[in-house]
Amino acid sequence: MAEREVIGVVGGDQMGSGIAQLAIVAGLHVLLYDSDSEALARATNSISASISRLVAKGHLSQPAGDNAMKNLKCIQNLEEFRAADVIIEAIVESEDVKKKLFSELDKIAKVSAILASNTSSISITRLASVTTRPSQVIGMHFMNPPPIMKLIEIIRGADTSDEVYITIKSLAERLGKTVICSQDYPGFIVNRILMPMINEAFYTLYTGVATKEDIDTGMKLGTNHPMGPLELADFIGLDVCLSIMKVLHEGLGDNKYSPCPLLVQYVDAGRFGRKKGIGVYLYQKEPAKSKP
Ligand code: NAI
Repeated sequence: MAEREVIGVVGGDQMGSGIAQLAIVAGLHVLLYDSDSEALARATNSISASISRLVAKGHLSQPAGDNAMKNLKCIQNLEEFRAADVIIEAIVESEDVKKKLFSELDKIAKVSAILASNTSSISITRLASVTTRPSQVIGMHFMNPPPIMKLIEIIRGADTSDEVYITIKSLAERLGKTVICSQDYPGFIVNRILMPMINEAFYTLYTGVATKEDIDTGMKLGTNHPMGPLELADFIGLDVCLSIMKVLHEGLGDNKYSPCPLLVQYVDAGRFGRKKGIGVYLYQKEPAKSKP
């Protein structure tokens, strides 16, 4: 399969904008789309600010930074994805919404295009089932923030071809990442293990075992995690964490995956974490997007 040079990214929030930034810095052409035009404008500003910081810190030369920005094109219409070789979906973690998008992308994308999902937990096989090209649908799960984290978890759906797997693996490596491969089961590898830990941290808080600060300090200093689980949940987004727990609970059918009522209540209250300025913790200023 030929080298994939034009990458479509759907969804311009923290993950989509980070993926777009990573790809343009690697010299790929990126078409970025979000159904919310304000989210698209925020994505462009945040990518531009991150690239300026990389230049200021000497991680990127000024011409390389300028070229990277030239590689980014924000698009207003899904039809423009016709030019893309690989389309990476990074929209809201909802199976129904993602399926609707995959069905639309399947009609628009060129026959050879690969449709990849950055989903944290949703079945790639089921997303592929709404397309006419299940062998060209794959999971490409970046970690947050994509420009910094070293891993991409690749998920093979039931019908993903070897050729598509190899193409996406080499794209991930071109982006400077280490690849792990998961079969298509709820939560894959990373979130299958991480999210029950975060959920348990919520239960620990909910049942009054300890304060949020002591839970986070315990896990940071006691187990050498760079962030405590509650702090990490705020960073990921409590809405995203809850969606993943629901997928684990429904998909694996065990009560140990039942979302903690406190997590549910925070999401009901709109306390989504850093992106909303409040989650487990209160953030003083406009939720920072920790990008390089
Ligand atoms: P988010 O939920 O904060 O933002 C989603 C973006 O998609 C929004 O800008 C929204 O306007 C846009 N959107 C929603 N429906 C759309 C549609 N039909 N067409 C076009 N745009 C649409 O999401 P976030 O946190 O950026 O995550 C995106 C995906 O990446 C999710 O599947 C999530 O599970 C996954 N992910 C999230 C991580 C995290 O730490 N937040 C880490 C790794 C993966």
